[in-house]
Amino acid sequence: MNNILVVGADRGIANAICRQLEARGEHVIAACMGAGEGFTEGGVDTIGGIDVTSPPAVAKLAEGLRSRGVRLDWILHVAGVLGLDELGKIDYDDMRRQFEINTLGPLRVVEACFPFLGPNAKVGIVTSRVGSLGDNSSGGMYAYRVSKAGANMVALNLHHDLIKKGISVVALHPGMVATDLTKDYPGNYNYIQPEDAARGLIARMDELSPAASGQFRHANGDKLLW
Ligand SMILES: NC(=O)c1ccc[n+]([C@@H]2O[C@H](COP(=O)([O-])OP(=O)(O)OC[C@H]3O[C@@H](n4cnc5c(N)ncnc54)[C@H](OP(=O)(O)O)[C@@H]3O)[C@@H](O)[C@H]2O)c1
Repeated sequence: MNNILVVGADRGIANAICRQLEARGEHVIAACMGAGEGFTEGGVDTIGGIDVTSPPAVAKLAEGLRSRGVRLDWILHVAGVLGLDELGKIDYDDMRRQFEINTLGPLRVVEACFPFLGPNAKVGIVTSRVGSLGDNSSGGMYAYRVSKAGANMVALNLHHDLIKKGISVVALHPGMVATDLTKDYPGNYNYIQPEDAARGLIARMDELSPAASGQFRHANGDKLLW
């Protein structure tokens, strides 16, 4: 049994990840912005009130880990937001909000929680292919693209620092997933369900090793351009 911290677990992909990991017998610690009400029926261990933009909340998360006396095997940071914008109508306050959640959120959480990781542990950060510099062929979505490109850099930088301790880090794209986040997303896509994305992301974390640390992977296994 692994001790697995999943961050942003109230809804969507992270929620499905928690349920699948719990069903296969892992000790899942679900960090939720709300109270974690959705998990009262199962065996998921919840820590509520964790807004990744809040230093006191993230300190509370670290304290929750300390009080449990756990040595974490994985941290999976999934929390994120998407705000749509276009050139000429950029809301810079909303851009700062997305940067706080999507970019600084995973850094703040991993910085606070890596002392609880064991020597062969793994860190997964769900970013987005939309944050890829090499894959940007359409423009638009300034705040989301910039914040997720920053999140990719956070993941790569964490890899360089944590691999020295034997900890592997990967940036992950879940695919195009039908969640609240994508309900207003422009264009027609063949959306997969959160449960399918969760299965792929868990598979990527299962196979992650020090040799494969420092990569950007699609949930389907494809290696993505930074
Ligand atoms: N869906 C896709 O197609 C897609 C594609 C590429 C990347 N992604 C990424 O995948 C991740 C999960 O997305 P999703 O589709 O599952 O979205 P979702 O259904 O909207 O879920 C987002 C989760 O993030 C949490 N969250 C938002 N702000 C937070 C904060 N400040 N602190 C802590 N938690 C916060 C939400 O909590 P509340 O419920 O309390 O708001 C919710 O649990 C995001 O990082 C997203 O950018 C998704």
